[in-house]
Amino acid sequence: MTVYLVTGAAGFIGANYVQHLLMWESSDVEVIAVDYLGFAGNQANLESVSDRVVFEKADIADLDAMEEIYRRYRPDYVVNFAAESHNDRAILGPSAFMRSNALGAQVMAECSRLVPVRSHVHVSTIEVYGELPPGDKWFTEGSPLNAKTPYSAAKAAGDQIVRAYMQTYSELNIRMTHCANNYGPYQLPEKLIPLAVTNLLRGRKVPVYGDGLQSRDWLHVADHCAAVHRVLHADLGPIPPRAATEPELLPIFDISARCEVTNLDIVRRVVTALGLDPAEWIEHIPDRPNHDRRYLIRPEKIETQLGWRPVHDFDAGMAGTIDWYVEHRAWWERILEEKGELGFDWGAVGPEAHRTPGDGAAAG
Ligand SMILES: NC(=O)c1ccc[n+]([C@@H]2O[C@H](COP(=O)([O-])OP(=O)(O)OC[C@H]3O[C@@H](n4cnc5c(N)ncnc54)[C@H](O)[C@@H]3O)[C@@H](O)[C@H]2O)c1
Repeated sequence: MTVYLVTGAAGFIGANYVQHLLMWESSDVEVIAVDYLGFAGNQANLESVSDRVVFEKADIADLDAMEEIYRRYRPDYVVNFAAESHNDRAILGPSAFMRSNALGAQVMAECSRLVPVRSHVHVSTIEVYGELPPGDKWFTEGSPLNAKTPYSAAKAAGDQIVRAYMQTYSELNIRMTHCANNYGPYQLPEKLIPLAVTNLLRGRKVPVYGDGLQSRDWLHVADHCAAVHRVLHADLGPIPPRAATEPELLPIFDISARCEVTNLDIVRRVVTALGLDPAEWIEHIPDRPNHDRRYLIRPEKIETQLGWRPVHDFDAGMAGTIDWYVEHRAWWERILEEKGELGFDWGAVGPEAHRTPGDGAAAG
């Protein structure tokens, strides 16, 4: 029996990964799904596989709790997706982000040191590289970390800790990925694509921050899951000593489909797919403070070293994603009933909200 421990498993990408994992590894696997069911956690995301998954409600930043889970299940493979991930909320309440994304990354690596595993993947984000200057083509694994928002800074802190663990305890097989913006099923309707679909299906306009020309690098969540799985199982060999000064030699892989699209273009596609007129159904609202303008990463390393390629075409992937939210109305209506309206209006929130302690729920 091979044991997989997946954290953040009730979130968007973690839930997709668990479902794919059970398809790829059909027999003889035990999946331990860990999540503390925070703001974005939704156990219903695992409903279709609930009979094949052991769910543990736990905080990855709690060393005692996580060590106990490791000792009880003795995982062979660990994937750490758990993070506070909603950028807007990080501005209103950064503390929870620091705890999950930085301390949580350390606790998970420490557990894999105390109770050794075959390999451990820490899932990080393109956003740790900061903003891409207009003339530059892309970031690579060797680019310096240059986070500028509370979310990306917390993730970058986690990255630094994981880099320290992977080099200091190199026998542990700790790896890391940075991924582009994901789209697909099970994403909380506070994020751009599900927000647009769920607003339009309820006869509401879609809010777009500022001019909407913020450019993002988009990848289907299924392609991300396949890439993470490949990194988890790759036979990478020892880390060369030169990696200390050449970080591109570390077991770090950037994941992207080289698909750069503006937020405005994404929203226009959703509006049009639902048979509506963008001129009538899009409204521009004040931009988020300190909003990154552009990022793009080059996935050449994972393509050449591990043979991974995205298989989802963007047009077809977007159409399938929009259909999924149209067809799963009960799933997102339940979320909106529980959490209230999602989405932010920074014009209405005002400077007081920037000082709101806690999880930022005040602006929901
Ligand atoms: N969504 C994207 O486009 C994207 C892109 C690149 C990287 N990532 C990274 O992928 C990972 C998953 O992202 P997502 O979009 O699924 O996020 P999400 O917010 O939908 O899910 C994260 C899950 O982690 C859980 N969690 C948070 N802190 C926890 C803690 N301390 N203990 C236990 N559980 C905790 C939450 O309850 C939630 O279920 C994150 O690490 C994120 O930084 C996301």
